[in-house]
Amino acid sequence: MCGIVGYVGSEQAAPILLEGLSKLEYRGYDSAGVAVYDGETGRLTVRKSKGRLKVLSDMLDGGASVAGRIGVGHTRWATHGAPSDVNSHPQLSRSGRIAVVHNGIIENYAELKAYLQEQGIPFTSETDTEVVAQLIEHFYEGDLLQAVGRCLRRIEGAYALGIVCADAPDEIVAVRKDSPLILGYGEGCSFLASDVTAILRHTRRVSYLDDGEAAVLTRDGIQCYNHLMQPIEKEICHVDWEVDAAEKGGYEHFMFKEIMEQPEALRRCVLPRIRNGEVVLEDFRLDGEYLRSVRKLYIIACGSSYHVGMLGKYSLERILRLPVEVSLASEFRYMDPIVDEGTLAIVISQSGETLDTLAAMREAKRLGAKTLSIVNVVGSSIARESDQVIYTWAGPEIAVATTKAFTTQLAVVTLLGLYLARRLGTMEETEYKSVLEELLALPEKMEAVLANRDGLQYYASQYFNHDSVFFIGRNIDYAMGMEGSLKLKEISYIHSEAYASGELKHGTISLIEDGTLVVALCTYHKLFDKAMSNIVEVKARGGDVLALTTEGKREELGKTANGVFAIPEAHPLLLPCLGTVPLQLFAYYVALMRGCDIDKPRNLAKSVTVE
Ligand code: M6R
Repeated sequence: MCGIVGYVGSEQAAPILLEGLSKLEYRGYDSAGVAVYDGETGRLTVRKSKGRLKVLSDMLDGGASVAGRIGVGHTRWATHGAPSDVNSHPQLSRSGRIAVVHNGIIENYAELKAYLQEQGIPFTSETDTEVVAQLIEHFYEGDLLQAVGRCLRRIEGAYALGIVCADAPDEIVAVRKDSPLILGYGEGCSFLASDVTAILRHTRRVSYLDDGEAAVLTRDGIQCYNHLMQPIEKEICHVDWEVDAAEKGGYEHFMFKEIMEQPEALRRCVLPRIRNGEVVLEDFRLDGEYLRSVRKLYIIACGSSYHVGMLGKYSLERILRLPVEVSLASEFRYMDPIVDEGTLAIVISQSGETLDTLAAMREAKRLGAKTLSIVNVVGSSIARESDQVIYTWAGPEIAVATTKAFTTQLAVVTLLGLYLARRLGTMEETEYKSVLEELLALPEKMEAVLANRDGLQYYASQYFNHDSVFFIGRNIDYAMGMEGSLKLKEISYIHSEAYASGELKHGTISLIEDGTLVVALCTYHKLFDKAMSNIVEVKARGGDVLALTTEGKREELGKTANGVFAIPEAHPLLLPCLGTVPLQLFAYYVALMRGCDIDKPRNLAKSVTVE
């Protein structure tokens, strides 16, 4: 959570920092601030405010009211201390000469604060970050990097830090451990940011700091250091994301734009990976001998990515005939999992920075597993630390509610399944070819779903004021329902639950009464009759049923359900990719009608880099 940005160069820093922060607001948005050093006056100006970035931007006249060519900025998702002006970042040292922006959590901050207070150092905020600013000043003897190094030896936890000091007015010091930090190389200027989208307008040349590394940014360039503060060279990568991809481009919300971008994202993800009737995964380093030794797949992820994992279990077990376990990363970390050299851990994360997922991946590695990650953000921590990465190539996803990253993750899981099946000889040729053909047809079918979206808007208008919604389904429809339910609750704030239809009679059915909305998913033909029985049970208790099925079953369902939305027919392995789209649109329209802040739902952040 939290977004940080830094700039040093010949332009005025504040407008650049504010513009960068506007791209990072998805990471946290309860307060924002900047610290800018003005060489003319020798002053470090800090401006910060509770509330959205706009409050700060208006306060600073878009940045025009703060002079200076070097500075750092922050957008916050509160951890220590409520959202307030005083708890906003940057946090200052006692003298006001050192300013720090921070993403992460300093776990031993209380102990350090007590130590500093004993030395007579007063604190003004409740944040863990203020400890860092005070500690650096405590150690400062004329060399900022050295003081930061000493501070790092004392702090424990996760951090990406940007530090400016009025006594070192030409440089920004940046360090990271377990929180993302990107360095940007411009012409006569340098940048730091939590995410590349914040600096894409200015440079495409970036490098990624690794854990324990530090950097000193000046207008002439960037010098990086290892954990011993010895100079090192970092590889500079070229980012080829389009600048516009991180803009709304005429859409009212990023979420809607990203929903509509899904066919294109799928084309980008799938087409280059199918050549001459075969799945080609370039740079795939896990060799045949290793793959044949794998006895179990363990999928690890959080939130929507976890739902991809649940869907992946159905598809990978079917394709590979290998046992697949799926675990929430936050649970995996502490459950003493049965993982060894015979386990391939598949780690799924859009951001590639989710702390629980990263930690779980490290744990899987420690236990002997090899790790394969499915990630959207190129160069992210999970991508870099896994033994093998497969990128989803969905392009930047800004809305907190994931959409195109989700469907491309599903596509990658299918590609991976096919690729492994070929190596392990577990799939019939005809089945392999038919899934490949269906994969290629997927973007077009998705376009057809999107073109029919009016029907979903109509259903949303009928049900947007309900307080509670249930999603039911069996097998893949159940896992899809979990995603539909999460999408709805996270952006519309309607209470919603997903249940395996067969579980209704074991408790949940007692909640169904006159007018209760139940979204029944029945795309999986094999279990259609069973799904119908559950729908009838719900109807018998007065529930309203909105059903999602495929074209071939539309008529039959229409006789029983209050409303039906149909997707094109598809291979069962690919149905979830199509079926999720109407659920995304339904959630979107409901949230729109309820007047919710769709791209930035309350209490949430896009990238969850705290435990
Ligand atoms: O970046 P990740 O895929 O690791 O994020 C995991 C979850 O935080 C994420 O999927 C979250 O559940 C989404 N906001 C749901 O739309």
